[in-house]
Amino acid sequence: MVQGKWFAPGSDLSELIPVRSAVFGGGRDDLDTSSWNVLVYDDSIPAATGRIWWENGAFWLGGIGVLETCRHRKLGDLVLRLLLFKAQSHAAREVRLRCPADVTGFFERLGLKPQSGEDTEAVEMMIPGNLIDLDSCKNCPKSSCPNRK
Ligand SMILES: CC(C)(COP(=O)(O)OP(=O)(O)OC[C@H]1O[C@@H](n2cnc3c(N)ncnc32)[C@H](O)[C@@H]1OP(=O)(O)O)[C@@H](O)C(=O)NCCC(=O)NCCS
Repeated sequence: MVQGKWFAPGSDLSELIPVRSAVFGGGRDDLDTSSWNVLVYDDSIPAATGRIWWENGAFWLGGIGVLETCRHRKLGDLVLRLLLFKAQSHAAREVRLRCPADVTGFFERLGLKPQSGEDTEAVEMMIPGNLIDLDSCKNCPKSSCPNRK
């Protein structure tokens, strides 16, 4: 079973840090005192993580990563959706993040768009809060799905 768990700013992140470290090489940092972190478990095993914080008039997402052995199974998608839902439930005016250029497509699927002024190391992406759309059924081709009724 796949489950998500939220960690409020300042929480014990000892379950989550090994995932972050495995993906990004970093551990706990100062941003954790002001961030909500999310951890996704796959059959009780910590597998994917990400965080959200408020800064300079926007909600920022970061540290979105999935253990290499657990990729391509929509866990990253779930982390991103959980973070966007958190932003939406706080009436976010806009949501921003910085990511490597080869990952922009992952974020574009949920409406984030690259911003001008990007540098070569990281692309800044943004979605206005009112354009966040987490309806996962919208583009599904299955006509016989019970969710349609
Ligand atoms: C990017 C990352 C989080 C994706 O996680 P994942 O669990 O493998 O991705 P998912 O299985 O949830 O993919 C969901 C969809 O996004 C697509 N996708 C995944 N990675 C993508 C990429 N780099 N570019 C474009 N699309 C991508 C998948 O093909 C899938 O598409 P579909 O819904 O049409 O089938 C993961 O590869 C990762 O941890 N990368 C290293 C860390 C990183 O770069 N993080 C982002 C910056 S903070």
